[in-house]
Amino acid sequence: MGVERVNFPRLKADLEALGRIGRAPGGGITRPSFSDADMEARRWFQGRLREAGLEPRLDGAGNITARSGDGGGPAVFLGSHLDSVPNGGMFDGALGTLAALEALRVVRERGLRLKRPLELVAFTDEEGAFGGFFGSYAFTGALTPEMVRAQQDVRGLRLADAMARRGLDAMQAPAARRDPAGIHAYLELHIEQGPVLERLRLPIGIVETICGIRRWAVTMRGRADHAGTTPMDARKDALVAAADLVVRAHRLGLEAAPHGRATVGVLRADPGVANIVPERAELILELREQDPAALEALAARGAELAAAAARAWGLEVEIAPLLRIDPVPMAPAVQAAIAGAAQALGLKAHRMPAGAGHDAQVVGRVAPAGMVFVPCRDGRSHSPLEHADDAACENGANVLLHAALALANE
Ligand code: HGY
Ligand code: MN
Ligand code: MN
Repeated sequence: MGVERVNFPRLKADLEALGRIGRAPGGGITRPSFSDADMEARRWFQGRLREAGLEPRLDGAGNITARSGDGGGPAVFLGSHLDSVPNGGMFDGALGTLAALEALRVVRERGLRLKRPLELVAFTDEEGAFGGFFGSYAFTGALTPEMVRAQQDVRGLRLADAMARRGLDAMQAPAARRDPAGIHAYLELHIEQGPVLERLRLPIGIVETICGIRRWAVTMRGRADHAGTTPMDARKDALVAAADLVVRAHRLGLEAAPHGRATVGVLRADPGVANIVPERAELILELREQDPAALEALAARGAELAAAAARAWGLEVEIAPLLRIDPVPMAPAVQAAIAGAAQALGLKAHRMPAGAGHDAQVVGRVAPAGMVFVPCRDGRSHSPLEHADDAACENGANVLLHAALALANE
C-alpha cells in the first residue's frame, strides 16, 4: 500500500468552509437541496473542484460529478451529498463529499497512474427534503417521470418548481442514468451517526448492510367543531387519533429491537387553531429494519396500527406511501478493499450495519458499493451537536483514499 496520505489541514479547512454555509448563528446547518444555502454550497464546491484542476459537471438531477484520470472505462466512484437536514450538523454528507475531492486531489498531485479513472459524485437531495435519494435514484435509473412529479417538501413546494427557479428542468432527471457497466465500484465515507464505534473505541467501520426504509403520509379525517360547545363524547378529533398512532408506533419500534425503528417526525393538525376541534391530522410514519422480511412484517404492522388508531376514535384514515427502499448488502469485494486499506494503515476496523440510509444503498442495487464509517461524538447526528474529531476524519479519508486506489488498480 503506497505512502499516500490526504492533506488533512486542507480537508479540514474545506470542512470548516462548507460548514459555514447555511449555518444559523450559533446553531445548526440548514441546506435543503436547491435552497439558497445549497446553491451557495454547490457554487463553493464547484469552485474547489476547479481549483483542483477538475471540471465539474451537472447532470439532469443536479448531481455534481468530476472525473480524474483518463480513459472512459468503468470508474471507481467516490461520493456522498452536500445537502443537509434542517438544523443539522457539518459532517453528514459533507465529510464524504470533501474526502472524495481530497482523494482526487492527492491522485492528481502525486501523478498516480491508475488502471481506472476515479469519479466524484455529490448527489442531490439525499436527505429527502422532497422525498429522498432523488439524485442517486436518477443516477441509477430508478427515477420515473411520475416520481419526479410527485416530489414535494412538507410545505408543498414541488421539486420541479424548486429546480425551475434554478434554471433546471426536473423532467431531465431520469436522463441522468449512468450505465451500471460504467461503475466499477462506489465508495462512500460517512460518520456513523450512531454510538457503536465510539463505544468500541474503534476508528473505522466497514458497513455490511444499509437499513431499509418505509415512509407513509397518514391522514386522519375527523370533523371540525367548536372547542367550547361540542361535548367530549360527540367529537371526531383527528389529532387525538393521530397522537394515538404516534404512541402505538413508538411501542412498535420498541418491540422491534434491536434493529427495528419507528418514527413520526412530522405531525400537522388542521385548521390548527386553539378553538376548533381538529378535522384533519397528517403525519409521516417511518419504519426501518436491516432485514427485508423483518421490514415487510414491520410495514404490515404499521398499516394495521394506523387503521386501529382510526377505528379507536371512530375516524377514517388514508395511508399514502412516500418512500420504499429495501435493505441493501454492501459488496464483499468493496468491503474487502476497505478492510485492506484499514489494515495497511494500521487501523482496526469493525464490520457493522448502517441504521441510517445512504446513497450507497441506492447505488448498491446496480453496482458494487461500500461504505467507510468513522465515529462521531456520542453517536449524535441530524443535530447541531454532530461532531467528528480530526483523527476520525483523517483516518476515514485515508482509508477512503487507499480503498479507492486498490479498487482502481485491481
Ligand atoms: O434518513 C437517513 O437515514 C439519511 O440521513 N438520509
Ligand atoms: Mn448522510
Ligand atoms: Mn442524514
